[in-house]
Amino acid sequence: MRRCHSIFFVMICMEMAAAALSGCGMGGSGGQRMIRIGHNQATDHPTHIALTAFEEYIESRLGETYNVEIYPSELLGSQTDMVQLTQTGAIDFCVASNAILETFSENYTLFNLPYVFASAQAYHRAMEDPEVIDPIFESTKRAGFEAVTWIDAGTRNFYTVSRPIEAPADLKGLKIRVQQSPTNVEMMSLLGGSATPMGFGDVYTALQSRVIDGAENNEMALTSNGHGDVCRYYSYDMHQMIPDILIGNCAFLDGLSQEEREIFEEGFGLINRVERAEWVKAVEAAKEKAANVQGVVFLYPDTKLFQDICEPMHEKMLKQYPDLKPIYEKIQEYNARYPAKTEEGGTVQ
Ligand code: GCU
Repeated sequence: MRRCHSIFFVMICMEMAAAALSGCGMGGSGGQRMIRIGHNQATDHPTHIALTAFEEYIESRLGETYNVEIYPSELLGSQTDMVQLTQTGAIDFCVASNAILETFSENYTLFNLPYVFASAQAYHRAMEDPEVIDPIFESTKRAGFEAVTWIDAGTRNFYTVSRPIEAPADLKGLKIRVQQSPTNVEMMSLLGGSATPMGFGDVYTALQSRVIDGAENNEMALTSNGHGDVCRYYSYDMHQMIPDILIGNCAFLDGLSQEEREIFEEGFGLINRVERAEWVKAVEAAKEKAANVQGVVFLYPDTKLFQDICEPMHEKMLKQYPDLKPIYEKIQEYNARYPAKTEEGGTVQ
């Protein structure tokens, strides 16, 4: 499967290089400008469904000029590969986890902090607030890309092949896959497990061959990515709510006319709305399937045990990046208004 992806990846890159040489992404059947969007989820995932709605919307409004092409399932490489392709303009957009964006701009570190949001509601309200997201979303402009919208990726929790995680001590000695971000590696080390950073597409094989003992992700990873076929326990320690971010190439976005840009902005809003509505349904269905078909056992440990251990990471980050303090404080206001246990949107506790 990975080999097929690699061959496809090389073919796409050759096609994109040829398109770039012959005049910037022309490639639609009627001579339209091709807009390429990459992501790493399957075609039944809320991310793909939302991007398909965007494709339909843009083509219904600007179909004579643009032809949107979506590349799912890491066809264009890992998220890190796709961010680099977006930076250079080889593709126009990709969906990347906020976790890996921290290596492109330190501002993204904030949303990766464990337990930075007290509840799903606090998380959603904060992410809807331009004062919270704008300074972060614009911070990569110098690097050639900017964030145009965020999408929900639920709550991240630990899941393991055979050892139930009921307290941090249970993580001791276990190799746990984390996303390729310094914050995630630090979090895992503090909690006592052995952090094993790797790309999302490699996790299933690593679990199956016991190269790792577990991973951490939302419930969709159990079903859409099949991890629940290998892992018996899923523990709601609720350590992170990390959004996925749609990023776009700055040169492409800046080249749009004002009228086109307004239509694209409408389309970005549509992605957010469609994905979040689909997310709630998808997580419910994933839990159902994981419990009843895959035989995954869901556990509800005391989250405070995990939270207390991660707490020092907040002070440390604020010392390292003092400019993020006003945004952090704004998030605390939402946390006070929507404390834990006021959950919404497919997240349980
Ligand atoms: C989630 C998230 C992805 C991310 C993945 C991961 O599925 O939506 O953007 O790549 O987790 O753990 O790598």
